[in-house]
Amino acid sequence: MAQLMENVDTIPSDRSCPLPTHLLPQTHEVVDDKLLVGGCDLIELAGEFGTPLFVYDETHMRSRCQEAVAAFGDGVAYASKAFLCRAMARLAHSEGMCIDVATGGELHTALTADVPAHRLVLHGNNKSTAELRAAILADVGRIVVDSFDELSRLETLHAETGIRPKVLLRFTPGVEAHTHEYITTGVDDTKFGFTVSNGLAAAAMEQAQKSHSVEVLGIHAHIGSQVFAIKSFAKAVAVIAETAQPFNVQEISIGGGLGVAYVVGEKAPTITEWGDMIRIACEQAGVTAKITAEPGRSIVADAAITLYTVGTIKEITDIRTYVAVDGGMSDNPRPVLYGSGYEAFLPRATKARRPKVVTVVGKHCESGDLLVRDATVPEDIRVGDILATPVTGAYGHSMGSNYNKVPRPAVLFVSKGDARPVIRRETYDDMLASDLD
Ligand code: LLP
Repeated sequence: MAQLMENVDTIPSDRSCPLPTHLLPQTHEVVDDKLLVGGCDLIELAGEFGTPLFVYDETHMRSRCQEAVAAFGDGVAYASKAFLCRAMARLAHSEGMCIDVATGGELHTALTADVPAHRLVLHGNNKSTAELRAAILADVGRIVVDSFDELSRLETLHAETGIRPKVLLRFTPGVEAHTHEYITTGVDDTKFGFTVSNGLAAAAMEQAQKSHSVEVLGIHAHIGSQVFAIKSFAKAVAVIAETAQPFNVQEISIGGGLGVAYVVGEKAPTITEWGDMIRIACEQAGVTAKITAEPGRSIVADAAITLYTVGTIKEITDIRTYVAVDGGMSDNPRPVLYGSGYEAFLPRATKARRPKVVTVVGKHCESGDLLVRDATVPEDIRVGDILATPVTGAYGHSMGSNYNKVPRPAVLFVSKGDARPVIRRETYDDMLASDLD
């Protein structure tokens, strides 16, 4: 952590600079210009496991979970939508985090990883009766209620099961989080939650507190994702505190959303700084309820690197150079969906300057399939090189697809010189497993 912070202070502004090391996982080392993570040589891993390949630094993720628990206490939940497999659910649980699951599929994954149900928080703006029933019968720790329709489904399920689940109500505090429109959620014009400004949040709280079908513990709010301006969370706390005041709630979850640095020149607040900001805002607003949070991206994003193999390089004089790799929008849809920026580098020459401007594209059949527009790479990049994009641990694998029937990549957890496959590479037959004819 100390090493990461020192590097953040020396962010170079020149884009042809070597890759800034604060974008790399915590245990990275550069030996003879080659990059090791978790004591494993990335080029060797690419040779052994093939590409595209996600490599996650286990120590990095563990220390982020520990930081989150230190900042918010043991109610803090890992938002599993950022990256989920059984190994990840076990890792977050073993470090003392609860797990936020937003669908029946995420719930099933966490339960089959043997995470105790009482450590799970169920989210979703349109939970089906089947998803709610599964969560109630499993006895999940919290259900975050998103709508009046869901409240009535919970009444019906109480009549059916006799179980009275513990719930939080999701409030929409009307706070602008200063992030991408598609991942802003706290403003009034959103599909999520009970709006505070028009009185529906207070009305929902009154109704739920009177109900015998649910046990209301408190309030949840999530203002958006990839938020750098952590003062936005303090504003949300102030709105929630005022609305919550008459209801005497025991618990407030401020959701997730802390931003991370993806490219040269970006600097993100730490989980500790985020926690301090929220704690102070709560003190100022006189909040005495237990405060929790749900970080996803900030736990896993910069823990991982994706490795690709360069297959072709197309130079169009005076226009652009395309470097095509063996993955693309199927393993990282974020550049296409949100115009998100990434860096690229060659792990065989980690400290090399990157003066050549190229566009890194994938292998899918569409022009929009790009991974890094105007990436800077070393001058001598060539076909056959292993090319890496850092900070791909969040919303890459989890939002991946099989577009063009491209199998999903393998995922490794690396630690202390050991590389543990936690998700194997999909096969062509895996992709046909649900075909009936
Ligand atoms: N809690 C709730 C209720 C959420 O909806 C989310 C994210 C989180 C927690 C975790 O937020 P985080 O700490 O990861 O920012 N696919 C987008 C991000 C969508 C976030 C959805 N909700 C992206 O790739 O940027």
